[in-house]
Amino acid sequence: MNAPFHPARASQREPFVAFVCDETTAEALRPIAVELGWSPEKVNKGGLRNAVQTLSVSASPNILFVDLSESGDPLNDINALAEVCEPGTIVIACGQVNDVRLYRDLVASGIHDYLLKPLNPDALRDTFAQAQAALAAPKLAEAGADRPHCSVAVIGTRGGCGASTIATSLAWLFGDKQGRATALLDLDVHFGTGALALDLEPGRGLTDAIENPSRIDGLFIERAMVRASERLAVLSAEAPISSPILSDGAAFYQLQEEMRSAFECTVVDLPRNMLVNHPHLITDVQVAVLVTELTLAAARDAIRILSWFKSNASQTQVIVVANKVQQPAVLEISRKDFEGSIERKIDIVVPFEPRIASQAAKLGKPLAETGKGAKSLAAFMDLARRITAITDSGDRDDTPAKSNKSGDRKGKSLLGKLSEIKMPGKAKAKK
Ligand SMILES: Nc1ncnc2c1ncn2[C@@H]1O[C@H](COP(=O)(O)OP(=O)(O)OP(=O)(O)O)[C@@H](O)[C@H]1O
Ligand SMILES: [Mg+2]
Repeated sequence: MNAPFHPARASQREPFVAFVCDETTAEALRPIAVELGWSPEKVNKGGLRNAVQTLSVSASPNILFVDLSESGDPLNDINALAEVCEPGTIVIACGQVNDVRLYRDLVASGIHDYLLKPLNPDALRDTFAQAQAALAAPKLAEAGADRPHCSVAVIGTRGGCGASTIATSLAWLFGDKQGRATALLDLDVHFGTGALALDLEPGRGLTDAIENPSRIDGLFIERAMVRASERLAVLSAEAPISSPILSDGAAFYQLQEEMRSAFECTVVDLPRNMLVNHPHLITDVQVAVLVTELTLAAARDAIRILSWFKSNASQTQVIVVANKVQQPAVLEISRKDFEGSIERKIDIVVPFEPRIASQAAKLGKPLAETGKGAKSLAAFMDLARRITAITDSGDRDDTPAKSNKSGDRKGKSLLGKLSEIKMPGKAKAKK
C-alpha cells in the first residue's frame, strides 16, 4: 500500500505529530512543540510501530517525528513507514545508535534528519526550523505547473565525447539558473558519472528500481533521488560491473514517467546502446541532444543515429552539439565537412576547454557552473534556451531534420557520405 500524494490536502494536514518510545523523549519534545505553536498532545507513545499503524489509517502530518529506538532494523522499518506516509511529509527520526552510516542511509532513504538521544533542545529547534523552511519553500512542480514538462535526452555519438558533461550542465542550468525543478536520470547504470560529477554518492535508488520496477512510484522517486541542490535531484548508479543489467527497460520507462509528474524538467543521460536495446525510452522525449566530436568515427555514428531518429522517433526534435571543438588545424574533420556528411547543420558548438573541464572535475561541479565567462557557458546557455523554447511551446518537429545542401546526396550510402570528407592527413599520404 503506497499512500497517494494529494497536494490539495497538504494544507489540511496536522502540522506536527510525534511517536516516541519513552517518557524522557516525550518530555524533551513537548516544550519545543509548544514553542512552535503545536499541540503537545500530538506527542504519542509507541515509536515507529505506532507511527506505521496510525498513518496507515490517517492523513500524514507536515512534520512527523519518529523514534527508532525500539526498531531492530531501522532502515527496513523506515521503508514500511514510507509505504504509508504521503509524499510531502518531512520525517525527522531519533534513536540511540550513533553511526554515521546509518545516518547517511536514513537520509538517503528520505529522512530529513536523524537526532541522537537524549534529545538536545537546541538540536530539536534547529531541525524543526529547517523542516519548516523546507515546507515553506515554493514547490517548483506547482509553481511552473502551467509550463509543459521538459523532457530531454542527451546522447553521445561516441564514448567520451562529453555527453554526460553536457547532460549535467544542462540539468544544472535548468535547475539552478532557470529555477525549474529538475531531475537528472543517468542511465549509464554501470559507468555513469551523473553523481560523481556533482560530488554525490549515487545511492541505491536506480539499482533498486531496476531490481524491483513494481516499486517505482512518486514516493519511491522522492526517496530514491539524491539532491544536488534545492532544484536539482539526481538518480544515478555505480552498479557492480560483475552483474549485468537484467531489465527489459520497463524500469527506465517507468522512472521517466514518474519523474515527469514530480519534476518540471527531466534530463536523461542516455548511453547510445540504450537506443538499440530500449528504443521505447525515447517515445516521450521532446528533445534529443546529440553530442559529438568532429571525428570520422563520430561522423559515421552521427549519420546512423540521426537516421535512427528519422525512422524511429520523428516526433523528437534533435539538436546537434559539437563538443570539444578546437582550432581548425587540429580538428580531425572540419565543421563544414562534418555538416556535409551528416547533411545538416551543427546547432551548437562547445569549445574545447580542458582547464575548465579539469577544474569542474576537481570541484565536483558541472562544467557550466565552473566556467563563468567561458565560451562553453555561453554555448550551454544557448542550448538550454533552445530546448526550453521547444518544450515550453509544446512544439514537436515532425519535419525531417534540416538538410544542408543535401539534395545531391540523397540516397547515398553511409560510405558515400563519409568518403566526401576531406581528410588532410590522407590527402597528403596519397600525394
Ligand atoms: N568542452 C570540453 N572541453 C574539455 N574537456 C571536456 C569538454 N567536454 C567534456 N570534456 C571532458 O571529456 C571527458 C569525457 O566527458 P564525459 O564523461 O562527459 O563524456 P561521455 O560522452 O559522457 O563519456 P562516456 O562515453 O564514458 O559516457 C571528461 O573528462 C570531461 O571533463
Ligand atoms: Mg557518459
